[in-house]
Amino acid sequence: MPVLEWSPSLSVGVASIDSDHQLLFSLIADVDRAVQEKEETSVIGSLLRSLADYTDYHFAREERIMEVCADPALANHKEYHDRLRAEVGDVSHHYADDPDGVDFDHFRGMMREWWVDHILRVDVMMKPFVLANADKVAAIGEMPLVDLSGIEEDALSEDLEWQI
Ligand SMILES: [Fe+2]
Repeated sequence: MPVLEWSPSLSVGVASIDSDHQLLFSLIADVDRAVQEKEETSVIGSLLRSLADYTDYHFAREERIMEVCADPALANHKEYHDRLRAEVGDVSHHYADDPDGVDFDHFRGMMREWWVDHILRVDVMMKPFVLANADKVAAIGEMPLVDLSGIEEDALSEDLEWQI
């Protein structure tokens, strides 16, 4: 079973963000699989760098969308991103210096907990701002999803319990 599994209840209402989250989950699963299968250090190091790079790219995209929507939560949201950006970057650098020194059990647990909590508690708060500013979001090349009606609050909390 992958470290993280995406489901429609994790949708935040922006197609590019949803597909980023799916790609990030898949990169995290790749790192985990490579560690379990004791792949070469160069392979694991390269997967960790890809994960760190894509994490940076994804957070920059989310922050840009929040900026054009004038979402008042941007500064606070960015602080969450800054902490994970630093953590993933640190793990990648630490692995490059000392591959045996990285605690991958801790890394796996942290990824699982951080992403589900962040998406369901923080990222979903963007949804009303994105919907109210769909034209501005589209103008920067991001496409809001049209149908967000199927996602109920109850389903979100059930999913959170299930995922954790
Ligand atoms: Fe976020």
